[in-house]
Amino acid sequence: MRLDKFLAESGVAPRKKNRILIKEGRVMVNGEIITEPAMILKESDIVLFDGEVVTHQGKRYYMFHKPAGCVTARSDDRHKTVLDYFHEEEQGLFPVGRLDKDTEGLLFLTNDGEFDYALMNPSKHVEKRYFFWALGEMNEEKRNGIETGVEIGDGDLFTKPAKLEITESGEVSEFKDRLEGLKLRPFNEGAYNRRLIGGYLTISEGKKHQVKRMLKAHGCFVLYLKRVAIGDIELDSKLQKGEYRQLTIEEVQILMNREN
Ligand code: URA
Repeated sequence: MRLDKFLAESGVAPRKKNRILIKEGRVMVNGEIITEPAMILKESDIVLFDGEVVTHQGKRYYMFHKPAGCVTARSDDRHKTVLDYFHEEEQGLFPVGRLDKDTEGLLFLTNDGEFDYALMNPSKHVEKRYFFWALGEMNEEKRNGIETGVEIGDGDLFTKPAKLEITESGEVSEFKDRLEGLKLRPFNEGAYNRRLIGGYLTISEGKKHQVKRMLKAHGCFVLYLKRVAIGDIELDSKLQKGEYRQLTIEEVQILMNREN
């Protein structure tokens, strides 16, 4: 295996960054500084990074139930991150894509750049399904707008086709029980009427705050957002918020071998 790949799969850093670290002379193989990222390692070679032995951990894939209140980053000076929920020995992972701090639900973490590419590259059109509660009302015209493409930028930023399914609609007061216990986003009480909708929006891209902005463009303010599926893989209902589990080999294969 190539040295840069070995370091990536051992959680030192993503592969591109490892090439830089190697060129900086921070990696030794069998006691010798190596500056060639493409060097092929033998089973018996001993690799050190900054003087510490690096143990190969292989490719790892996790499903995480992200709670609201933590950021999707490897580190952050002010906020708890998704990696703070993982044990020490599972560090070296990175999140696949991003959920907002106040969004809950399904997030994958891995140390495999190819897995990340298979899910995140825009050319792959992977569908992401979100459940939402939003203040506001929906009608056929708005639905068509959301499903065919919404302008969400200052100018010409249009979204790709999406699928909208409204499962709940009524006065806010009718849904008090269902909203209880959920961390709702703060909102301006005077700015919206007291109608509420709930449902699912499925998108195949990942623009910043996309679901919130798509609904906002049609007068609906997202109070609560949870990602429930990516491609054909749903969030495991046995995972409580803040819990994770390894993806099965079948799940990884399903995600990586999707037809575009
Ligand atoms: N859309 C959003 O608005 N937020 C997320 O976290 C994900 C999708």
